[in-house]
Amino acid sequence: MLKEVSATRFVTPLREGGSLPGLVEADDLGTYVMKFTGAGQGRKTLVAEVVCGELARRLGLRVPGLVTIGLDPVIGLGEPDQEVQELLKSSGGLNLGMDFLSRAIGFDALAHQVSPEEAGKIVWFDALVNNVDRSWRNPNMLVRHGDLWLIDHGATMIWHHNWPGAAASAAKPYDASDHALAPFGPDIASAAAELAPRVTEELLAEVTAAIPEEWLRDEPGFESTDALRRAYAEPLLARAATIHERVRTSQEGTK
Ligand SMILES: Nc1ncnc2c1ncn2[C@@H]1O[C@H](COP(=O)(O)OP(=O)(O)OP(=O)(O)O)[C@@H](O)[C@H]1O
Ligand SMILES: [Mg+2]
Repeated sequence: MLKEVSATRFVTPLREGGSLPGLVEADDLGTYVMKFTGAGQGRKTLVAEVVCGELARRLGLRVPGLVTIGLDPVIGLGEPDQEVQELLKSSGGLNLGMDFLSRAIGFDALAHQVSPEEAGKIVWFDALVNNVDRSWRNPNMLVRHGDLWLIDHGATMIWHHNWPGAAASAAKPYDASDHALAPFGPDIASAAAELAPRVTEELLAEVTAAIPEEWLRDEPGFESTDALRRAYAEPLLARAATIHERVRTSQEGTK
């Protein structure tokens, strides 16, 4: 279960994000980046954030802490921006929050060095969850005090948009040629040797247990939300064993 907080103030929209996340303060005095259930991409984006964030954290990668944020749309009434007003109005109830990393800056491949070891772990993880959103154009990584943090896992696990084809989709290779860390000679083989054995059924059960129940309800083809939680775990378990053999990259030395 993720920690539950309630939004007390909407601070500002974060304009860089395609899904228009917002900065909010909550009743635990924390400040969070909030992703709205009412955003165009829908609740599956939020499920993907939870599964990937909680999995990455358990594998020792740096990801901001996740919480659920209860939102009373009333707090947005004073919001002058029409688009933000609408988003707040349509997002009453549970939303996703991530710890706001103050003073973090966006990753820049020209300004930051990443070791082949760390790059390998991140590329391997992105291959595992089929993350198509960590390219050099849009790295979705932040740097704070010299440390790399992973954010934005909404565009992963494409198979959850078509469950009947999930096994076939998850059997496909991963194209890392555009990956923001491809130029750093990621040591994917070592990362796989270290991390793949840790992706067990037990670990994935723990990870999928963190998905809020109401984001799983009414998925066609599933008789229970527990069955759907298991469906999230299966492709990841299958992929963990062999995905390192199916990472495509045009860079040298990154096999
Ligand atoms: N935890 C965080 N701490 C500080 N800043 C953050 C955090 N999460 C996101 N941001 C900032 O907000 C921006 C948008 O966040 P994010 O990439 O998660 O949203 P998005 O709408 O899914 O983005 P896009 O689809 O455009 O990649 C990030 O580029 C970053 O600048
Ligand atoms: Mg982003």
